[in-house]
Amino acid sequence: MSKIKLFAGGEIPIEMHRVSTVHNIRLIPVEDRLAALDEAGNCSYNLKSEDVFIDMVTDSGFNAMSDEQAGAFHLADYAYAGSTTYYKMADKVKEILGKDYFLPVHQGRACEQMLARSFVKPGDLIPTNFHFCTFQTQVRLQGGDLVEFLQDKGLTTGGEDGFKGDYDLEKLEKFLSETPKERVPLIRIEAGTNLIGGQPISMDNILAVSAIAKKHGIRTLLDMSLVMDNLHFIKTRDEKRRGMSVREIMREMADAADIIYFSGRKLGFARGGGICMNDKADFLTVRGYVSCFEGFPSFGGMSSAEMEVMRVGFDDTMDENVISQGPDFIEYMVEEFKKRGVPVVTPAGGLGCHLDADRFCDHLGKKDFRGAALAAAIYLVSGARGMERGLSSEKPEDSIAPFELVRLAVPRRVYTLSHIMYVIDRVTWLYKHREMIGAMRWEDESIEEHSFIDFLRPVGDWREKLAAEYKKANLE
Ligand SMILES: Cc1ncc(COP(=O)(O)O)c(C=O)c1O
Repeated sequence: MSKIKLFAGGEIPIEMHRVSTVHNIRLIPVEDRLAALDEAGNCSYNLKSEDVFIDMVTDSGFNAMSDEQAGAFHLADYAYAGSTTYYKMADKVKEILGKDYFLPVHQGRACEQMLARSFVKPGDLIPTNFHFCTFQTQVRLQGGDLVEFLQDKGLTTGGEDGFKGDYDLEKLEKFLSETPKERVPLIRIEAGTNLIGGQPISMDNILAVSAIAKKHGIRTLLDMSLVMDNLHFIKTRDEKRRGMSVREIMREMADAADIIYFSGRKLGFARGGGICMNDKADFLTVRGYVSCFEGFPSFGGMSSAEMEVMRVGFDDTMDENVISQGPDFIEYMVEEFKKRGVPVVTPAGGLGCHLDADRFCDHLGKKDFRGAALAAAIYLVSGARGMERGLSSEKPEDSIAPFELVRLAVPRRVYTLSHIMYVIDRVTWLYKHREMIGAMRWEDESIEEHSFIDFLRPVGDWREKLAAEYKKANLE
């Protein structure tokens, strides 16, 4: 239970923890925020965190640790080979995911690099429900590419379908029947999805994709970076699985995959990542690359202290009060924005509340960086930073993004309801003044993998005018 009904009416999400260690934050004046935006090239990822009041750029590695995680930090065994910490983590992976072999790496994209090097050759094609940029880059660097099979419902920002991350099974079957098997080393499932507003995939769909993969003799690869949210949504939206424990749901999902990988910056509330599987030959292949590029396989790219934290984080993930905290806050934001007429992606997904920048800034053109402009404007009027998910996150050759969104990530256990209410209030103010938001242009198109870092130039002086209007409102 992480929501309470109020005597005065209505319901609010409630934090199922209390705070013992705090990190002070400050709200710098609007003039200084304008100067910070200039210095940052109008890209939220370039802002210095000390200039940010509420940091909603990502949840990655930014989740708060529990007391048990903080304590586990000191249990680390730093032995180069055969470290006790490694074996404890491998046992935890076996207990929760049921996989025999575990390889730690320094973060999610390192898993992707190891897997792409291990399995992808030039000309290969990897089906996926939707791409994630770091995986796509790693596959392309090996000469392969991704093919997306997201159902049409996933490419809309509206509606109330609870599982917009589902595969189109018919299209997947058709593709596999027409493509030589040697060209398809893996079928990837992202649970939940990142780039389509944190929308989950249903268990039935995962099981169906896995069955198709088995029939064609292809490995199922499961990206569990965002699985905490996906578990919560299966538990709350899938009638058939309402009675199952989080642990049982997690195991059912894990059993459907041959290889699992995850960003430990998300799953496990630590700074690391991991790959696990049951097939010994595959394990030895991947291990070779981990030894080459990450570190000795018993620590990969991770610090042992972080691995201890990740192990305890795995147990935290099995606690409904922990995994529901992000989605409950996100749902609260989405519902409040809907009441105020602010366009958001529905239904509420995981990871963050996603504003629909296409509708928010419909006075701007599709190539005007609606998402990036909105993210900059939000920082200006609130000190909160989100991130654009649109043109700026794509490659220069992809001249139009499927969506222009702004993600306001909700890192678990970090912010309280008053922070969330503040952000809702300021975004609503901005929506009432949305016509003042102007266009952006790319300053530098040379980078192969943007990693979300861009330099953008505003068209005209709309930021200065918006800052002046906000100051007039006398809200600070
Ligand atoms: C679905 C998914 N896969 C992979 C990654 C990459 O993980 P990392 O940021 O730890 O490299 C992320 C990060 O956001 C993600 O959301």
